[in-house]
Amino acid sequence: MPTPPDVFAKVRGHDREEQLRAAREADILPYFRLVESPAAPIVEMEGQERVMLGSNNYLGLTGDPRVIEGARSALETYGTGLTGSRLLNGTTPLHVELEEHLARWMGTEDAIVFTTGHQANMGALGTLLGVGDTVVVDSAAHASILDGIILSKAKMRPFRHNQLDKLERQLQRASDDGGGVLVVAEGLYSMEGDVGPLQGIAELTKRYGARLMIDEAHSVGVLGARGTGAAELFGIEDQTDLRMGTFSKSFASCGGFIAGSAEVVDYLRVSSRSYIFTASGVPAAVGATHAALKIIDSDEGKELFALLLANAARLADGLTALGFRVIQSEGGIVTPVVPVLVEDDWKAVLLWKALYDAGVFVNVAIHPAVQPGGALLRTSVMATHDEETIDRALGAFASVKASFEAEHGPLPAA
Ligand SMILES: Cc1ncc(COP(=O)(O)O)c(C=O)c1O
Repeated sequence: MPTPPDVFAKVRGHDREEQLRAAREADILPYFRLVESPAAPIVEMEGQERVMLGSNNYLGLTGDPRVIEGARSALETYGTGLTGSRLLNGTTPLHVELEEHLARWMGTEDAIVFTTGHQANMGALGTLLGVGDTVVVDSAAHASILDGIILSKAKMRPFRHNQLDKLERQLQRASDDGGGVLVVAEGLYSMEGDVGPLQGIAELTKRYGARLMIDEAHSVGVLGARGTGAAELFGIEDQTDLRMGTFSKSFASCGGFIAGSAEVVDYLRVSSRSYIFTASGVPAAVGATHAALKIIDSDEGKELFALLLANAARLADGLTALGFRVIQSEGGIVTPVVPVLVEDDWKAVLLWKALYDAGVFVNVAIHPAVQPGGALLRTSVMATHDEETIDRALGAFASVKASFEAEHGPLPAA
C-alpha cells in the first residue's frame, strides 16, 4: 500500500515561516503580544504602560461597572457555562430578553443571538444560501462572510471594494445565473475604516430584485443616531433584509446576532448549523452584552457615540498635522478607525515596534489583511480616551517619525 504524503507537511517550510522566525528573533512581531490589564485607554502590556490604540472596545464599556455587574449577576444566577446548544438546553431568559431588546432597538421583527459574530455570519449565509444561488459580495468582506459563502456552496460573484459600477455588472451576471441573489456588504470596513456607498448598494439591490445583508460588526453601537449602524446612518434600514452584528466590539463582550424578519430568523433557529451544533454563549457574556445594550440604547449611548467620533477626529487631525497619511473615509464620514498608510509590510512592522517602544500599541495590517503594497497601522479610539491620552499618543508618533524616516526612508506623506 502506498504511503500518503504527510498532511502536516504544510506546517514546515511555508512562506510565512522564515518571516515569522526572523520577526520573533528580532522581537518585532506585532502579534500575540501580552495584554496584562483590562482593555482600557491605557493598558499594561509586557511590563510597560502603553496607550491602547489597537482595541475594538469602541465605547470603552469593557470596564464599565454596570457591564461588569451584568456579567457577574448572570454568572451567579446561571453558572459558568450552559454546556449545550441554544436548541437543547442553552437558552436562558437572558438570551430571550437580549434578542427581544435587540429586535426592538434595531427596528426588526426578530433577532437571533449566536455564540460569536463569526458563527452569526457562517450560520446566516451558510443556511440561507445554497447550491444554485448567487451571492454578490464586496471584495473586502470579512473572512467570516467568505466562510459562510463557502459553506453554502452558492456561486460567489465578488465586486471591487465599494465600486457601484462593478456591483451592477455582477448583479447583471447574477440575474442570468437563475437562482436567488443576495448582496453582502459591510457597514464599516475594519482595516481601512471606510464606510460603503450603502444608499447606492441598496438601490441597485432593489433594482435587480435581490436581497441585501449588511455586516455591522464595526458599525453597530457606533454609527447612526440610535447607534444601530451604517444602515441607520444612510437611512436604508427598510431596504436592508438582514443586519449582522457582533458583541465583541462596542458591546464589550463576545457573541453575535442577525436581525431581520421573523420568518427568516425563525428559520435560522431551526436550521443554522453554527447555532444548533455549538454551545450557547456563556451567561457572563450574555449578561454583559445586555447591560452594554441598555447603555447603548439610552441617552448616555448617544453621548458615547459623540465622544468616540470626536476622539477619532482629534487623532486623525493630529496625525495628519504630523505629516502621516491618514486614509479618509468617502464623504468625510468620521469612524473610530484611523488607518495610517505605510505601504511596505516590513516598514509597517518596524514603525509598529518603534511606537510600541515609545508606549503606544496599534495594530499592523499587512497583506492579506489589506491589498499588497497597502500595509497600514490601524489605530482606533475609544469613547473613554481623554484628550490628554490621545495627545500623549500623538507625541509618541511625533517622536518616532523623524528618526524612523532617517533610518528607513520616507513614509507616505499627508
Ligand atoms: C466585519 C466582521 N464581521 C464579523 C466578525 C466576527 O465577529 P466575532 O469576532 O464576534 O466573531 C468580525 C470580527 O473580527 C468582523 O470584523
